[in-house]
Amino acid sequence: MDAKARNCLLQHREALEKDIKTSYIMDHMISDGILTISEEEKVRIEPTQQQRAAMLIKMILKKDNDSYISFYNALLHEGYKDLAALLHDGIPVVSSSSGKDSVSGITSYVRTVLCEGGVPQRPVVFVTRKKLVNTIQQKLSKLKGEPGWVTIHGMAGCGKSVLAAEAVRDHSLLEDCFPGGVHWVSVGKQDKSGLLMKLQNLCTRLDQDESFSQRLPLNIEEAKDRLRILMLRKHPRSLLILDDVWDSWVLKAFDNQCQILLTTRDKSVTDSVMGPKYVVPVESSLGKEKGLEILSLFVNMKKADLPEQAHSIIKECKVVERCHWGILTDLLHKWNQS
Ligand SMILES: Nc1ncnc2c1ncn2[C@@H]1O[C@H](COP(=O)(O)OP(=O)(O)OP(=O)(O)O)[C@@H](O)[C@H]1O
Ligand SMILES: [Mg+2]
Repeated sequence: MDAKARNCLLQHREALEKDIKTSYIMDHMISDGILTISEEEKVRIEPTQQQRAAMLIKMILKKDNDSYISFYNALLHEGYKDLAALLHDGIPVVSSSSGKDSVSGITSYVRTVLCEGGVPQRPVVFVTRKKLVNTIQQKLSKLKGEPGWVTIHGMAGCGKSVLAAEAVRDHSLLEDCFPGGVHWVSVGKQDKSGLLMKLQNLCTRLDQDESFSQRLPLNIEEAKDRLRILMLRKHPRSLLILDDVWDSWVLKAFDNQCQILLTTRDKSVTDSVMGPKYVVPVESSLGKEKGLEILSLFVNMKKADLPEQAHSIIKECKVVERCHWGILTDLLHKWNQS
């Protein structure tokens, strides 16, 4: 981890240890591939909340820049905006002569924008889906300066959230179309009070310096108005990413002439919202070649050198006809942790 990030964590260690509840934070970090189940267990067996937080921070301090970013994102998503603000200045920026991260081709600008927007990192084992990412990016470019909706839809576990994050991991798209940045919201299945809480958290995130209002919106209508003003005045030309939307009534709260990318299993969720709509369907299955590619990355072996069992594993992960992304990757992560 960079010295700046490390110092920032050390400087605010006490405040973090005092306030954070580790369980939800660790869920985020596990799904980012930063923490293992056994590390989570090691934290969980500590007797008090403060000791659990202290153990988690001790572990993060031994890890890399991605861990810092994952921890920062988790704080942001779990409503610890004040604590996230303390860590904001320490967010590591990858810099080299070309400004590119040699491994992934991601510039430091992209990293910083995505980190600030709470966009999840790539899965540890990652294979590209160039054609789909390009299609999403093409649709997103239609939102340049124009309100509208881009919907990524497909069955559970087909990789929609990973694709949404990947589509915005692009320097020229961010610079040209969304210079105001991106804001990722994990929506999920919500009732009215759950939605209000999501909106309140988002308004707080978008108004970190509290220049617009001191108090949280009290109902969905008020939150919708607040969000409209914040997007218009404080974050023009930014992209709102609504991940995992289940209900069309939820989208009404965001129907504010903004630029929105959303993922959903049900493409009819945008039926009643206003403005231009673009849809990107995602196939639920993953071809045998991609399946083998994931396996080969996972075991760090060339595809051609994989043993015969690799083909059987791919077959085992079939749903209906073809191999399923979620099932295969879940299986591999479980193996890795056992
Ligand atoms: N390109 C990829 N490379 C490697 N793993 C991937 C890729 N895309 C998705 N996965 C893995 O597949 C699983 C499902 O992906 P993801 O969460 O994006 O699906 P989803 O369609 O958003 O699911 P849901 O409908 O439940 O929200 C995850 O474990 C993810 O890490
Ligand atoms: Mg998803």
